[in-house]
Amino acid sequence: MKAFVYNGPGLKALEERPKPALQAAGDAIVKMVKTTICGTDLHILKGDVPTCTAGRILGHEGVGVIDSVGAGVSTFRAGDRVLISCISSCGKCGYCRRGMYSHCATGGWILGNTIDGTQAEYVRTPHADTSLYPIPDGADEEALVMLSDILPTGFECGVLNGKVAPGSSVAIVGSGPIGLAALLTAQFYSPSQIIMIDLDDNRLAVAKRFGATATVNSADGSAAQQVMAFTGGRGVDTAIEAVGIPATFTLCEDIVGPGGTIANVGVHGSKVDLHLERLWSHNVTITTRLVDTVSIPMLLKTVQSKRIDAAQLITHRFGFDQILEAYDTFGKAADTKALKVIIEA
Ligand SMILES: NC(=O)c1ccc[n+]([C@@H]2O[C@H](COP(=O)([O-])OP(=O)(O)OC[C@H]3O[C@@H](n4cnc5c(N)ncnc54)[C@H](O)[C@@H]3O)[C@@H](O)[C@H]2O)c1
Ligand SMILES: [Zn+2]
Ligand SMILES: [Zn+2]
Repeated sequence: MKAFVYNGPGLKALEERPKPALQAAGDAIVKMVKTTICGTDLHILKGDVPTCTAGRILGHEGVGVIDSVGAGVSTFRAGDRVLISCISSCGKCGYCRRGMYSHCATGGWILGNTIDGTQAEYVRTPHADTSLYPIPDGADEEALVMLSDILPTGFECGVLNGKVAPGSSVAIVGSGPIGLAALLTAQFYSPSQIIMIDLDDNRLAVAKRFGATATVNSADGSAAQQVMAFTGGRGVDTAIEAVGIPATFTLCEDIVGPGGTIANVGVHGSKVDLHLERLWSHNVTITTRLVDTVSIPMLLKTVQSKRIDAAQLITHRFGFDQILEAYDTFGKAADTKALKVIIEA
């Protein structure tokens, strides 16, 4: 089968690989129908993710059809159409029983990281019963690809941890796919303000279409001042960090108001300053989270009912043999205006 392989920092290739085989009773082999590329895959290609070693097939998102299942799988059988969670969970360990699938003792974020992933014709998915979701008949499968990772991430790590509430004020730093997913799902709670911040005017224009009440281009260094002006000098109730660099976390510290929450979503590769000398008296909460994807069943219903339009995050489509071109397009988002790219079999 064809597979997209990480061959060490800066090295990627479309290679011929053997079709994966069942290894454990709980495994399923899924024939991929549609997959996509995540910002995290770009981090891996740069060499930022040491757990992912050379030779790994990347990808942790997608939908497919079950090809075969191990003897222990009871929920799915060959021919079933499934959505693949980016997080594998056994459903039984202490962390899974607490709903913290991201820290599953024998799972978590392993697909396209410590085991081969979804950017291939077939993928082996461990703990299939509790890591795959049946696709309802007639569903828009392309839209459902947004449920493998980005919508649950924006919702769980940003909106839920950030305690977005009716009438509250929200600022989201970073208007990439994750920040936009937080923007879409924050609207479940009817906040009165959602201010989107980025350096890219195209992404800010998209944010406006997706329901932002205001947008701020932070290139000139005045973002904090502008957010203060939008909030009557108080700062926001929820500041969501969806970039993953020190400057954007610091901006969240600058714009969170008294009693507010900073919900960090970004993957940070270097240390960040914590300004307790300013924040100690402000009753501020800071949260961090690796997505658990516990919200997939709920989000699936909201996508099915068109309560949120997930398909609008998709900007480009490629065939599987064009995956290198898909990576180029996704990697040059400022020029190509790419958000999510769909790669189909
Ligand atoms: N916590 C989790 O479980 C989890 C899951 C998935 C992704 N992530 C992380 O979430 C982050 C966002 O993901 P994404 O796919 O949307 O990434 P992305 O790179 O597509 O988007 C980041 C956005 O931030 C903007 N940006 C960069 N520097 C900025 C600055 N100084 N000020 C304002 N905006 C700036 C960019 O223009 C871009 O639009 C990444 O760090 C990703 O690794 C976390
Ligand atoms: Zn991802
Ligand atoms: Zn578990």
